[in-house]
Amino acid sequence: MSLRVLVYGATSGICHEVLKRYATEGAGFFLVGRNAQKLAAVADDLVARGGEVLGSSSYDFKDWGQHEPVIAQAVERLGAIDVALVAHGTLPEQLETEVSTAATQACMDDNFTSVTVVTQALAQQLALQGQGKLAVISSVAGDRGRKSNYTYGATKAGIDAFLAGLQGRFSGTDIRVVNIKPGMTVSPMTAHMAHGLLWSTAQDIAPGIHNAINRGTPVHYAPGYWRLIMLIIRLLPTAVVAKLPI
Ligand SMILES: NC(=O)c1ccc[n+]([C@@H]2O[C@H](COP(=O)([O-])OP(=O)(O)OC[C@H]3O[C@@H](n4cnc5c(N)ncnc54)[C@H](OP(=O)(O)O)[C@@H]3O)[C@@H](O)[C@H]2O)c1
Repeated sequence: MSLRVLVYGATSGICHEVLKRYATEGAGFFLVGRNAQKLAAVADDLVARGGEVLGSSSYDFKDWGQHEPVIAQAVERLGAIDVALVAHGTLPEQLETEVSTAATQACMDDNFTSVTVVTQALAQQLALQGQGKLAVISSVAGDRGRKSNYTYGATKAGIDAFLAGLQGRFSGTDIRVVNIKPGMTVSPMTAHMAHGLLWSTAQDIAPGIHNAINRGTPVHYAPGYWRLIMLIIRLLPTAVVAKLPI
């Protein structure tokens, strides 16, 4: 039977590349995003590649009351969820968050609160089913607080802790929780930034993410070399990290 895939943040550049791979395998999708027009374009593309879009919903994920009814609607349309993927997020200007509590709150809501609330609800659905893969896109930014992006990084560190706890909760069951940690990736989120040596494209990292979800890999760095880079950065003394331009 084809996989049934529920996606939050389906219009994300990274996520869309991963969904293309499920579409060629004939997956059935329920797509959730903020922008109905962009969502329709993604749906058309997935159908053209062999997928089936069984439903969709568009709303801002800070509209907290929508999450439970939308997940219930998705379950009704799909029958059950084999793969749930949570991919949304925003990258704020670090300096703006330092002078604006509103910008800090928006960063927390977009990248931590909405992600964990949705993930918790999806986890409960998988618990009821007794099986499924729950994948969330975190970031290497969560591995160490750094002055260049500590507001965003803190949300990703929080997601890492949340997912580690979920992995413990579902240990010994047929539910797998996958923490996806991309490094710097060319996407609409980073289009305004200069792209250097360590950058990847969404196309580069999508096959690895797709495999990691299917295998239920607990923590997947994308590409894999980020595991080593972040290990080194985590081991550096605080005084050294504070002086580095990172
Ligand atoms: N690109 C990188 O270098 C990088 C590195 C590490 C981790 N990540 C993570 O990877 C994930 C995907 O990012 P991306 O690079 O693919 O960026 P992207 O193309 O800009 O995708 C971000 C997605 O999040 C959605 N979104 C943001 N806030 C939302 C809200 N309040 N309600 C509903 N949808 C919302 C956006 O919707 P709209 O289309 O409507 O704007 C968009 O679909 C994010 O979690 C990001 O933090 C990215």
